[in-house]
Amino acid sequence: YKRVTVKSLVDMKKHGEKISMLTAYDYSMAKIVDAAKVDVILVGDSASNVMAGYETTLPITLDQMIYHASSVLRAIKRALVVVDIPFGSYQSDPKEALRSAIRIMKESRAHAVKVEGGEEIKESVKRILNAGVPVMGHLGLTPQAIYKFGTYTVRAREEEEAEKLISDAKLLERLGCFAIVLEKIPAELAKRVSESISIPTIGIGAGKHTDGQVLVIHDLLGMTHEFNPRFLRRYMNLYEEMGNAISQYVDDVKTKDFPNDNEQY
Ligand code: KIV
Ligand code: NA
Repeated sequence: YKRVTVKSLVDMKKHGEKISMLTAYDYSMAKIVDAAKVDVILVGDSASNVMAGYETTLPITLDQMIYHASSVLRAIKRALVVVDIPFGSYQSDPKEALRSAIRIMKESRAHAVKVEGGEEIKESVKRILNAGVPVMGHLGLTPQAIYKFGTYTVRAREEEEAEKLISDAKLLERLGCFAIVLEKIPAELAKRVSESISIPTIGIGAGKHTDGQVLVIHDLLGMTHEFNPRFLRRYMNLYEEMGNAISQYVDDVKTKDFPNDNEQY
């Protein structure tokens, strides 16, 4: 296995090879995702929604992120693993941001961290990068700021927010970030951003012109079924398939079909 590095991602952009990224939060899923040769595994704070059942990403703690990340890191042989620094663990001051990043790197053996925002968190990004920890940015619909937005609809449709997003992307590149997630922004804006920086952009609901794509694994597999945004392509309907398999098992137990003579000692 040739490991994916932050440098490989920048090279992929240079050569026009699209970057594939997916979330994973546990060992078993990460094994499958890694073996399928996904370039980047994101231990997203979407674990707060998908794994823990919270309505937003805000409640998940640094300790919980480290637990998810360390499980993922034990599974992977090839992918680059990026871990979200959760809400409240980097916004108050740069020293706290660095401490959080260091805990993630040491305790989970992650390869990089991701933070949401631009200008507002500039000093924290600098501090983390200065310690030699690669940073992925995240602009557009940044879910940790959901209570500021008040809605999950598309961001940066208006000129002012679009201009700020472009300048934030350039700032993150200048600071030394190795890639930027662009979430739920118009495809034309994502194209402009991707063309104006040399580090890769990785889109979710940001159209076809970004340098890579990311999805939440549970959404791609159709394990979640109530979340139906336009950008989501479902490759399976595991919600239904798993439900059917489990009902069949219940049925087999009730009817004494399971276990049969060959399934015992
Ligand atoms: O937490 C997450 O899953 C993310 C991706 C959707 C980019 O940040
Ligand atoms: Na996230």
